[in-house]
Amino acid sequence: MAAALDQLAAVLAAEDDKMSSEQDTLLELKGLSKIFNLGEIKVHALSETDLEIASGDFVAIMGPSGSGKSTLMNILGCLDVPTDGEYLFNGIKVKNMDEDELATIRSERVGFVFQQFNLLARTTALENVMLPLLYSGKGKRHEKALQALEVVGLTDRASHMPNQLSGGQQQRVAIARALVNDPDIILADEPTGALDTESGNEIMGIFEKLNQEGKTVILITHESYIAAHAKRVIHLKDGRIVKDEINNNRTVATSKIESKKYEHL
Ligand SMILES: Nc1ncnc2c1ncn2[C@@H]1O[C@H](COP(=O)(O)OP(=O)(O)OP(=O)(O)O)[C@@H](O)[C@H]1O
Ligand SMILES: [Mg+2]
Repeated sequence: MAAALDQLAAVLAAEDDKMSSEQDTLLELKGLSKIFNLGEIKVHALSETDLEIASGDFVAIMGPSGSGKSTLMNILGCLDVPTDGEYLFNGIKVKNMDEDELATIRSERVGFVFQQFNLLARTTALENVMLPLLYSGKGKRHEKALQALEVVGLTDRASHMPNQLSGGQQQRVAIARALVNDPDIILADEPTGALDTESGNEIMGIFEKLNQEGKTVILITHESYIAAHAKRVIHLKDGRIVKDEINNNRTVATSKIESKKYEHL
């Protein structure tokens, strides 16, 4: 009898595994909260948030200033830790990971893009793109960086300094830098916030292409026309998800940028 029950449990567990792999959940938050303690004041930046993001999804996160968008993004990218609740990265509890495992996620699984590009001044586009490879100690730096610049259509600007590039071009260099370790997830915090509409649309064209090639893209935006490119739009308010919907009316970017797929060297 006990053996039969064990067998049944094993079958059910296998079914369970199959179901979860069919849904292919990449990132999962369970009852996650983040509280910042400012002396007497406690700021509830995120409150009991549940969220599942599947591999290959393209998610836009919207919401008013202070609603917890960047806090959520920082936790998803393992740059910050929750106060409460659980974060599972590819099914593994992040709180049980050691510093090395976290560093690997930050440098190899996730590529970050920020509103202000965060490029090093007095350093060429190519060198900026090579930087993450210095930390991860990987070879073929020059070729990989050039290839990442090719993905964003900027090979001809490789030796330009950031101040010799337009805002849109600087953001494309920042995207190349985020891609150079071939991450499976792109996290972008208001990547088009400092750009005009046309440059913003070009950036969205690059994200769309990366998503089509299989990368999971999660970006924060205040602009509906930017969110309109995503497959799914999540709205935050006061640290809670108040709306989470599939976008059935996606905008497809018409980018003039000539780019090619990033083949990992
Ligand atoms: N390091 C911190 N220390 C204290 N409070 C913080 C910290 N970071 C964020 N907060 C607070 O947490 C809340 C959520 O902040 P968060 O930066 O996530 O908002 P946001 O939605 O990204 O806003 P914005 O659109 O302005 O970028 C805010 O009330 C903010 O003041
Ligand atoms: Mg923010």
